[in-house]
Amino acid sequence: MAPAFTPAAASAMIGRMSILEDIPHYRRGREFLGVRVPVISGAMTWISTSGLVKAVGEAGGLGVLAGGNMPVDLFAAEIRELRDWGGPFAVNLITLAPNYADHLEMAAKMKVPLLVFAGSFPRKSEVEAARASGARVLCFASTDSIARRMIGYGANGLVLEGSEAGGHIGHVSTMVLLQQVLFAFPEVPVFVAGGIATGRMMLHLFLMGAAGVQMGTVFAMSTESPAHPAFKERFRRARSREAFATPQYDSSLPVVSVRALKNRGTDDFGRLQLKLLQQIEQGRINRVQAQYEVEKYWVGALREAVQSGDVDRGSLMAGQSVGLVDGIRPVKEIIAGLVRDAEKELVTVRRMLCDRD
Ligand SMILES: Cc1cc2nc3c(=O)[nH]c(=O)nc-3n(C[C@H](O)[C@H](O)[C@H](O)COP(=O)(O)O)c2cc1C
Repeated sequence: MAPAFTPAAASAMIGRMSILEDIPHYRRGREFLGVRVPVISGAMTWISTSGLVKAVGEAGGLGVLAGGNMPVDLFAAEIRELRDWGGPFAVNLITLAPNYADHLEMAAKMKVPLLVFAGSFPRKSEVEAARASGARVLCFASTDSIARRMIGYGANGLVLEGSEAGGHIGHVSTMVLLQQVLFAFPEVPVFVAGGIATGRMMLHLFLMGAAGVQMGTVFAMSTESPAHPAFKERFRRARSREAFATPQYDSSLPVVSVRALKNRGTDDFGRLQLKLLQQIEQGRINRVQAQYEVEKYWVGALREAVQSGDVDRGSLMAGQSVGLVDGIRPVKEIIAGLVRDAEKELVTVRRMLCDRD
């Protein structure tokens, strides 16, 4: 009798660590990131510290250190800590942060191996400066035109993030972006983000051509995440529909939508927008000053929730994937579970395709 076709048996047969290695895009993602499993724990301000980045790296994935608007010397110390540790890591730069120019200069000087530009999109000269320092560059893309532009600027790969994601988001769903970008640019390594929390989904993304996946919400809830226990507990109980995207009230104050669990903090943000709109109308502040106030609000509110555990007034940035996670688990278990479930799904797909007359 032929041996049972299980992931373990299949891996043993082909002498590899995982049958996922049969998928060319999976191998491409591993090589690009320099890791065992092409799963990125996306940067999360106040959460993605060197501690979480190390935990993800030790579990086989890639952690991204969040810079937020950190003082440059603290940010540099975190990078140094990761260098001394010796594992794989990337660094996130927020183009809208007041310290952004200094962050970029410092990261280039410190020869960070992989830089992820987030916030708005970087200038061509900034992508070139990063690459000239020896770094590889990943850029966020939330529309097909941004994707095209970032590739033109010289980005080595894309984080294709749909509107299901937590934090600052675009307006196009992951489902549509897959067809507009992943299918359209097969030559570029694409890491898909927004709404992913299962190995089964991850497998199908690899089959579609993704070089890897990026998740935030799942890792914010991990044991190693430094987020306050009240923050994680609120996430554990949350349903997908509670992860709500903030609206823009008026085009005189363009704001980037933020997806977060609805609470008094999201109401506070609505009132802040109205107050700022009034001040713009009265000529007391200009649009740029108002946008600065908005971003300052988010950074502070997220800190309140993450560090002080104020789940009522703080910002509980979370993706719709929050409804797919119901426990707080160690990073190693999360990544091993994703791989196991992806392998199981690959076996199912193979069986399905071979079971024809
Ligand atoms: C609490 C929180 C904070 C975030 N902060 C950042 C950030 O500072 N920089 C960034 O590039 N992305 C940030 N993100 C986005 C994540 O890196 C990731 O792309 C996103 O969470 C993926 O979608 P998911 O939440 O459905 O997994 C944040 C997300 C969350 C949930």
